[in-house]
Amino acid sequence: MMEQIEKDLTIMEIMIYGCPVLKEKAARVTDITDDVIRLAQDMVFTMQAAPGIGLAAPQVNRSLRLITIDLSVGEKEEQLIVLLNPEVVEHEGKAFMEEGCLSVPEVNEKVTRPARAVIQGTTLDGNDFALEARDLLARVFCHEIDHLNGKLFIEHLSPLKQRLIKQKFKKMRESGGAD
Ligand code: NI
Repeated sequence: MMEQIEKDLTIMEIMIYGCPVLKEKAARVTDITDDVIRLAQDMVFTMQAAPGIGLAAPQVNRSLRLITIDLSVGEKEEQLIVLLNPEVVEHEGKAFMEEGCLSVPEVNEKVTRPARAVIQGTTLDGNDFALEARDLLARVFCHEIDHLNGKLFIEHLSPLKQRLIKQKFKKMRESGGAD
C-alpha cells in the first residue's frame, strides 16, 4: 500500500484567497488513516513543487489540522516536518518580517510574529512532537497554524491594506485571472 502511494503522488490544487475552506476552523485529526498519510505525502509533494516552505491542509481544500513545513524546499530531508494537530503552546518576543502565502499569490507584506515559539503536535507515526522554533521556523509554524484556524497572514495587516488586497483578488476572480 505504502509503495503504491509513494509512486503515485499528486500535485494538489491550491485554494486561493476567497475560497471558503480557507476561512474554516479545521477539524482535528483523530485517526492516522491511509487517507491522512496519503494527504500528507501529496501535500509535501505539492509544497515542494510550488515551491513553498509551508502548507496547511485547508490550502488543498481539506479542512483538517495537518501541516507540512520544509525550510529547505526539498533540499534537506531532515528539515521536513509533517505535523498533526499542531499548537503553539508558548511564545515569546516579536519579529516583523515579510511574509507570503501560496493561497495569496503575489502579495508579500511584513507582519509581526513571535520571535520564538514552542510547538506541540503529533507526527504521522502517531508520536508526540515538541519543538522550540525561532525566527523563520517560528514564523512558518504560526502562519500554518493560523491557516488551521481559518486565518490568512493578510488578516494581520491594517484594515486598509486588507481592503486593497481583497479588491485586487475580487477583480482577478471577476476577470477569470485567478485561474
Ligand atoms: Ni499560507
